[in-house]
Amino acid sequence: KKAMPDPAGLLAWYDRHRRVLPWRARAGHKTAPYAVWLSEIMLQQTTVKTVGAYYVKFLSQWPTVEALARSPLDDVLRAWAGLGYYARARNLHACAIAVVERHGGEFPADLEALRALPGIGDYTAAAVGAIAFDLPAVPVDGNVERVVSRLFAVEDQLPAAKPEIKRLAASLMPPARTGDFAQAMMDLGATICTPRKPACALCPFDSVCIARARGDQESFPRKAPK
Ligand code: ADE
Repeated sequence: KKAMPDPAGLLAWYDRHRRVLPWRARAGHKTAPYAVWLSEIMLQQTTVKTVGAYYVKFLSQWPTVEALARSPLDDVLRAWAGLGYYARARNLHACAIAVVERHGGEFPADLEALRALPGIGDYTAAAVGAIAFDLPAVPVDGNVERVVSRLFAVEDQLPAAKPEIKRLAASLMPPARTGDFAQAMMDLGATICTPRKPACALCPFDSVCIARARGDQESFPRKAPK
């Protein structure tokens, strides 16, 4: 079986089955870069379910990056209470100030410039770049690592396998709609390609997944024994 996974099939699946989430504009529309960034920072160590209410509250309290930058840090920390990892909230405020000072209050549509902002690493730069601007980038989180490691039956263990998984993820990237592609991979990992008992019969990659062909889905991603 030589067929490669086809990102067009994943995008078609996403058009039918995408999750409705507060930071997702309706199909064919873009969420503001500021809102994408806010959601991605919140989602780093907090579940989709918990983030929802905080995201809505933050956007109503600080509708723009300028408003957030002008706000006292203490107010931001207070609104963050319950999300944990307060370094994220400090970086959030520092990043808002940097976007105003360096970029006139507009998030840059450039991966390097995003990566240079406080609290924005490779993952967040790729997520904001793809989802807000459709830049050619694939954010690889734990869900995407699982999908890719199963599709290609990546034998190396995490975390050593990360560069290989990122390379394979990039090889799947479509020529357009990279933001939808990124969120489709996340949805696939969250709802179909789950750690246990993945719902392979519903997966758009069912016929090309190497782990599935072997009947060995749950053994990927490989991890060092604890
Ligand atoms: N996890 C991180 N970013 C996400 C997004 N944009 N949609 C769903 N889950 C996510």
